[in-house]
Amino acid sequence: MEAMTQKIVELRGISKKFGGIFALDRVNFDLYNEIHSIVGHNGAGKSTLVRILMGAIRPDEGEIFLNGKAVTFDSPREAQQNRIAMVWQELSNFPNLSVTENLLMQRFVHKSNGIIDWKASQDLCTQYLLRLNLDISPKSLMGKLSLAQQQLVEFAKALSYDPAVLILDEPTSALSLKEQEILYEKIATIKAQGVAVVFISHKLDEIMHLSDRVTVLRDGQKIFTKNGSELDKDGLVEAIVGKPSEKKKAQRVVSVKQKSTDSSEPVIQIRNLSMERHLEDVTFDLKRGELLGITGVSGSGITDVGRILFGIELEYTGEVLLEGRLYDCTSPQQAVNHGLGYVPKDRKEEGIIPGMSVGDNLILSTLRQIYDHGFVNNKTRKTVIDRTMDIIDLKPRDPEITISSLSGGNQQKVVMARWISEGTRVLILDEPTRGVDVGAIEKIYALIREMTCMGVSVLVISSEFEEIHHAADRLLVFNKGKIVGEIDPAASAWEEAFALAIK
Ligand SMILES: Nc1ncnc2c1ncn2[C@@H]1O[C@H](COP(=O)(O)OP(=O)(O)O)[C@@H](O)[C@H]1O
Ligand SMILES: [Mg+2]
Repeated sequence: MEAMTQKIVELRGISKKFGGIFALDRVNFDLYNEIHSIVGHNGAGKSTLVRILMGAIRPDEGEIFLNGKAVTFDSPREAQQNRIAMVWQELSNFPNLSVTENLLMQRFVHKSNGIIDWKASQDLCTQYLLRLNLDISPKSLMGKLSLAQQQLVEFAKALSYDPAVLILDEPTSALSLKEQEILYEKIATIKAQGVAVVFISHKLDEIMHLSDRVTVLRDGQKIFTKNGSELDKDGLVEAIVGKPSEKKKAQRVVSVKQKSTDSSEPVIQIRNLSMERHLEDVTFDLKRGELLGITGVSGSGITDVGRILFGIELEYTGEVLLEGRLYDCTSPQQAVNHGLGYVPKDRKEEGIIPGMSVGDNLILSTLRQIYDHGFVNNKTRKTVIDRTMDIIDLKPRDPEITISSLSGGNQQKVVMARWISEGTRVLILDEPTRGVDVGAIEKIYALIREMTCMGVSVLVISSEFEEIHHAADRLLVFNKGKIVGEIDPAASAWEEAFALAIK
């Protein structure tokens, strides 16, 4: 720690409220030439803290010092001009532009006549990519790269600004183990080159291994900052989730819980499901009319389970039985034919057709019923739409407006309602409340509950521990591709699920 003599950044007494709730409550944080990790559960305030440092969010209170001088950044660009760079939690690139355009942005190489020199710009881009050993063509379209590659390009881009401070907000979630190792190695190298690093992640093993210091946030408050060498994992987990006695009275986010049917008849049986680097020997049952939650932090494999069941992901071993019979599904169309429905995590990319009306979005999966020898049977169309609109209580109740004009919560209802039809036996929902306004979360779960009461078995995939704990009949916790525990929500607190998920 000899190099840790000069304080580079100091955040003093930072508070920020969103809608009356403290996202950060008088938090102090400082950064030397070190790797300083921030950990905490979803919603603890990690992203808000670093966004404030980046000038993306204005704090309500508190001060920021850079090399001892008080500063205020009104935008990330200003932070960047002061040699602070960040890899954001959400990808923030332009999928229709090339890697070179994304990475260099306004910094293209120009010819003497002022025209952009594409060849030289691409070479420069390649140099930046090579700093991270990335074998990616500077000419590829950003949107054609895998999520992990896109994240690594953003990392290369942040480094290309020659930052003195580099912030990485959960950069590992989309990365394979090998890519993570490259990333950790690079983080250590750039620290040795004098860059101070703020690292946000859920992967406690890596954090303890990599960090000089670790700060724990919980519900907007700083619990402690400690040296990496002083930490043990149990202590860290306890700081993150809190001692039982310190727990605030659990807020009931979802109060619509009434157990549907008490059935033990399995509809889906998953046996020894494995997928390289994603899932390992996963076995569980989904019962009739059950609302089963599976939870874990990013990279735990929960999303993969849904993708396998719906026939999107085919590279796995193990078996799936549907109502006792081997279910060998190799495409989403087959899954639908077998009575499965699926709502993906990314509604905008895969869930809705933005230009189409609410009504047409509603009937997407029932189109075959509605087409009559190739013609749309308007009467059937209207009946199906009316019936579904009644069930989901959509506002405004107008099937002809475009779906893009609805709020996130109402869009999600439409996507889910598509699967309310006689054929659906199993519904898989991946992060059903993501991007949904808080007021609508309960309505989404009420709708899910209604479907279980109709006998549909629902698998909810969610990384919102508290929310899914309140909503589910039964909760399985995943960690690094394995089931590490089963939680009975009636008998335990949600923090237990989280503690298992990060151990
Ligand atoms: N732009 C925003 N508007 C309203 N609430 C927000 C916003 N950003 C964050 N929050 C809330 O602030 C809290 C902290 O969020 P965040 O900093 O993203 O947590 P973390 O990164 O630790 O998961 C959460 O309760 C979150 O819902
Ligand atoms: Mg965050």
